[in-house]
Amino acid sequence: MGFATDAIHIGQGPDPETGAVTIPLYATSTFASDELGRSKGFDYSRTNNPTRQALEQNVAALEGGRFARAFSSGVAAICAAVMTVDGGSHIIVTDPVYGGSYRLFEQVLKGYGLEFSYVDASDAERVRAAITPRTRMVYMESPTNPLMTLVDLRAVSDIAREHGLLHVVDNTFMSPYFQRPLDLGTDIVVHSSTKYLNGHSDLLGGIAVTNDDALAGRLHLLQRSIGAVPSAFDCWLTLRGIKTLAVRMRQHQENAMQVARYLEQHPKVTAVYYPGLERHPQHNLAKRQMSGFGGMLSFEVDGLDAARTVVNSLRIFALAVSLGGVESLVEHPAMMSHASIPREVREHSGIRDGLIRLSVGIEDVEDLIGDLDAALARA
Ligand SMILES: Cc1ncc(COP(=O)(O)O)c(C=O)c1O
Repeated sequence: MGFATDAIHIGQGPDPETGAVTIPLYATSTFASDELGRSKGFDYSRTNNPTRQALEQNVAALEGGRFARAFSSGVAAICAAVMTVDGGSHIIVTDPVYGGSYRLFEQVLKGYGLEFSYVDASDAERVRAAITPRTRMVYMESPTNPLMTLVDLRAVSDIAREHGLLHVVDNTFMSPYFQRPLDLGTDIVVHSSTKYLNGHSDLLGGIAVTNDDALAGRLHLLQRSIGAVPSAFDCWLTLRGIKTLAVRMRQHQENAMQVARYLEQHPKVTAVYYPGLERHPQHNLAKRQMSGFGGMLSFEVDGLDAARTVVNSLRIFALAVSLGGVESLVEHPAMMSHASIPREVREHSGIRDGLIRLSVGIEDVEDLIGDLDAALARA
């Protein structure tokens, strides 16, 4: 079946009892057993819940995986994926990486004996060069947040396999509609389902997908032991959002492409980072490993004052962190999403004070460009 058909049907066929065409919302903490030792397959919602299971089956299929485990947020899913390695392991991470992931790694997991190195993985050979005898995992974001740098996921998967490392990819920016890292040899795909999967900015969620039985078992153990699980209602809403993922992603991309082209020719814009532009240094890789370019882009103006004027002047783009909802958002990475990264590390990664990130929504694109035009005129 095609992607849109799977998105609408997998895990959520009509209810056998009633014929309801949407999955029931199983708002229950616990499940009664028929008799001691004989349940109907569910016992307690931290361990499993039918609405959550439907979401897990659905996203697993969309990512081309056999197993998925849903979490209460993207960082909870990332934490679980990283905790599939033993304490004392070394992990190679893309530079830059989402600020919340960086904070989790540096301020939390480091204290439990994990060690992280950050490398510009736009050249896969730099990943190979960073491997040490203790390296056990490569954790990649592609495209990276917020600079839209790509990682050649097939090449990194090959390096990871050669050295016996796990390869984890955060696929939040592209969604499985535009990119399927498991098909490129990745071991675990993680998402902040807060973003495109749900698509309506009304919940937090995360999910980890794999094809490997042992990793799936470990992820389930972490899910039910740490207990960072989503509510049945959030799973239900996410399933509802996913039904329109294909049409939303097409529109996000169409709008983002037009916005990128508009920004590219604007005299006050010094750089535009969008993999769909021919001048993006990895445009060919983008065409090869993704089936589209998504709705996220960043651009630069001349310094903090100009960036401040632009973000404060926008009227349709709401000034807010997060991304992937139907409404357009703007944010200033240095002071918002990536503020937890020390200034010198951030600037070394190219996240300067003039950088602005857009999550291009699915409003009328003429209105979005008009909004940007008016804001840039004031800068
Ligand atoms: C690429 C990426 N990964 C993970 C996360 C974390 O997700 P959550 O906020 O759902 O914990 C975010 C949040 O912005 C993100 O942008």
